[in-house]
Amino acid sequence: MVENPTQKDILQFVRPHLRGFKPYSSARSLHKTGVLLDANENATNLYSTELPLNRYPDGDNIALRTELGAAAGLRMEQVFAGNGSDESIDLLIRIFCGPDDAILICPPTYGMYTVSARFQNTQIVEVPLLPETFALDVPAIQAALAAHPEVKLVFLCSPNNPTGQVMDTEAMLEVIRNTDRPVVVDEAYVEYTGTNGLADYLATDSNLILIRTLSKAWALAGCRIGYCYAPAALIALMQTVKSPYNLNQMTTRMALSALRMREEMLTALRFTLSERERLIQTLKTVPAVQKIYPSDANFLLVKIPNATALQAQLVERKIIVRDRSMEHGLMDCLRISVGAPAENQFLVKTLKELTR
Ligand SMILES: Cc1ncc(COP(=O)(O)O)c(C=O)c1O
Repeated sequence: MVENPTQKDILQFVRPHLRGFKPYSSARSLHKTGVLLDANENATNLYSTELPLNRYPDGDNIALRTELGAAAGLRMEQVFAGNGSDESIDLLIRIFCGPDDAILICPPTYGMYTVSARFQNTQIVEVPLLPETFALDVPAIQAALAAHPEVKLVFLCSPNNPTGQVMDTEAMLEVIRNTDRPVVVDEAYVEYTGTNGLADYLATDSNLILIRTLSKAWALAGCRIGYCYAPAALIALMQTVKSPYNLNQMTTRMALSALRMREEMLTALRFTLSERERLIQTLKTVPAVQKIYPSDANFLLVKIPNATALQAQLVERKIIVRDRSMEHGLMDCLRISVGAPAENQFLVKTLKELTR
C-alpha cells in the first residue's frame, strides 16, 4: 500500500467567493449562558421542563460533534453534524461547485449527489461502475479526472446504494491518492460492514471526506442526523456556510442518547444481518428471482423479470420496494430493504404468488 505523506490543499478548490467568507454570527454561538437578552427569544420555557426550548440551540453543535468525533478518535474540529447526511452532501457541493464546475459520480449510485448538483446548476461527470461486479473503474475515473479539470468534487459510495457492496479499499485509495481534489466517500451503511470503513485514512489522506449517518444502523432516520469527517479547515468552512441553527435541541438530545447505546445498536445490527441472510435464502426459493447481488448493507438488490410492473403490483398489495430498473446497468432490478421477519416472509410469499 502506498503511503501518502503529502498535505493536499483541498481549499484551493473552494469556490472563490467563499474563501474567507464571513458567517452570520448567531447569538447562541457567541454566548450560551448568562442573562440572555440578545436573541429576541421568549424568556419563558412554556413546553418543556427538561430542555430550554425557548432558547436557540447551540449553533456550533459542540456536544454532538465531540461525541461523534470521539467515536473515531477525532477532534470536534474534524466533525460536521447536520440535518441528515443529505445536508453534508448539499453543503459540500455548494462549497466546491458552481455552474462552471462538476462533480464526478459512479452510477448506479445514491441519487442525491446528482440532485444536489443540479440545484447549483453544477455539471455531472459520470464514470459508471463496472458491469455486474459494480466495482470502481479506476482507470476510467483517472482518465475522466484528467479530461475534466472542472471536476471539483468526487463522490464514491461504500457500501454503495443501490448495489449494496463495499468498494475495494485499494481502488478507493488509488482514486484518492491520484488526485488533489476532494474525494467524498459516503459511508451511510458502514456499520453493517463491521469495519471502520476508511476512517483510519483520514490521518494520512488530507483530501478524504467521509459522510456518515445515524439514519441506518443507528435507527434514527426520523431524527435527521448525518455527519461528516474531514480536515478541520474544511469543517470550519462547512460550519460557516450551514444555516445558523441546523440541529434542534430535541434531535441533538436523542442523538447523544443513541450514541450511548452502542451495544443495543450492535445487537439490532446483528439481527438485521441474520434476517438479511434468511431473506436471501427464502428469495432463492422464488423461481422468478434471477440474481441476488451480494450485500454489505441492510438491503438487497434483486434481479427479477418485469421488475417495474412487479413493483407496481407489490404496491397494490401494500408492499413497497424500490424499482431501480431505470438506473445504469440495473435493468429489472428491485432494491429491497431488510424488514422485520414477518414483513420479509410476507414479501417472499407475495412475490411467489405474483410470479407464479
Ligand atoms: C448512500 C446514502 N447516503 C446518504 C443517505 C442519506 O441519509 P440521511 O438520512 O443521513 O440523509 C442515504 C439514504 O438512503 C444513502 O443511501
